[in-house]
Amino acid sequence: MRENLRVKTHLTSSPEQAAEFVRKGGVVAFPTETVYGLGADVFDENAVKKIFEAKMRPADNPLIAHISEHSQLRQLALEVTGPAQKLIDAFFPGPLTVVLKKTGAVPTIATAGLETIGVRMPKSATAHEFLQACSTPVVAPSANLSGRPSPTTWEAVFEDLDGRIDCILQDDQTVIGLESTVVDCTSDVPLVLRLGAISLEEIRSILPDAELYQDTGSDAVRSPGLRHSHYSPRARVYLTDSLSLKQAPHDSAFIGINAPEGEFRLKRICESVAWYAHDVFEFFRECDRAGIANIYCEIIPESGIGAALMDRLRRAAE
Ligand code: TXA
Ligand code: MG
Repeated sequence: MRENLRVKTHLTSSPEQAAEFVRKGGVVAFPTETVYGLGADVFDENAVKKIFEAKMRPADNPLIAHISEHSQLRQLALEVTGPAQKLIDAFFPGPLTVVLKKTGAVPTIATAGLETIGVRMPKSATAHEFLQACSTPVVAPSANLSGRPSPTTWEAVFEDLDGRIDCILQDDQTVIGLESTVVDCTSDVPLVLRLGAISLEEIRSILPDAELYQDTGSDAVRSPGLRHSHYSPRARVYLTDSLSLKQAPHDSAFIGINAPEGEFRLKRICESVAWYAHDVFEFFRECDRAGIANIYCEIIPESGIGAALMDRLRRAAE
């Protein structure tokens, strides 16, 4: 259930105007190269609390801090470990989040009680201008209602959060469409907590001993957010091989890279796996607007961004 917050949501395409709301303790949706984020000043506990309220996000799900300058790392992380520095040199700015031990200045509400903080420096020029104008690190989860597909357009943010946040910084559709890769760099073996826009192969080209985190359910959860339900349109999501789709039920949609044989009310054939990743969350929302009941998603090989895409599709289908 969505309780009413009744905040006036300003729309602007000026990074400077949007940043003004952050400087005054507000919450602002802004574009990055991955998905739109919902940001607030990391050091303002009251503002950070508003993020959780607006999204109806469970309090045990930590936020990522976004920076525009390397010097801001010192405000957030106690130390930058060797593996972290290598990843930063290779992938900042870009769709990578490194998890490090946090400083005392970072309020625990931002990290959901953890002693660590995820940090990322977005590559998007608009994000960079916005973050510079905020002149503080900005914590931001994806700017959707909790559980919904991540927003890749400002209109998708509006759909979920109009009346719940202070401002939306309007920009084009995000270029990647899937979230950043999250790597825990606090222990000896770097651990990929969430697959994302930077592939496991790319991470291992820098850190050959990096491991992919497997949630066995037994040990303490390293990334609590992974446990929550995710990326779900209202329609049911099925993973499928395109060739076996001759008898899809009536109100169905398809997204993939090969054309299926059956009839579909909505169909999206993508040029490549990268375009599939770019389009998928917006397609889920399109299906909901059209009242589609079932979405069939083509299974693709789990290499490159295909691994992150399959991870999101599996979670959406759960
Ligand atoms: O591309 C992205 O990462 C986007 C844009 C806006 O930057 N943000 C995003 O945030 O996807 P969110 O909150 O939807 O997902 C953050 C993920 C969650 O799975 C969370 O559990 C994990 O990162 N995470 C954040 N801080 C962490 C920490 N200190 N330790 C472990 N996992 C953490
Ligand atoms: Mg999210």
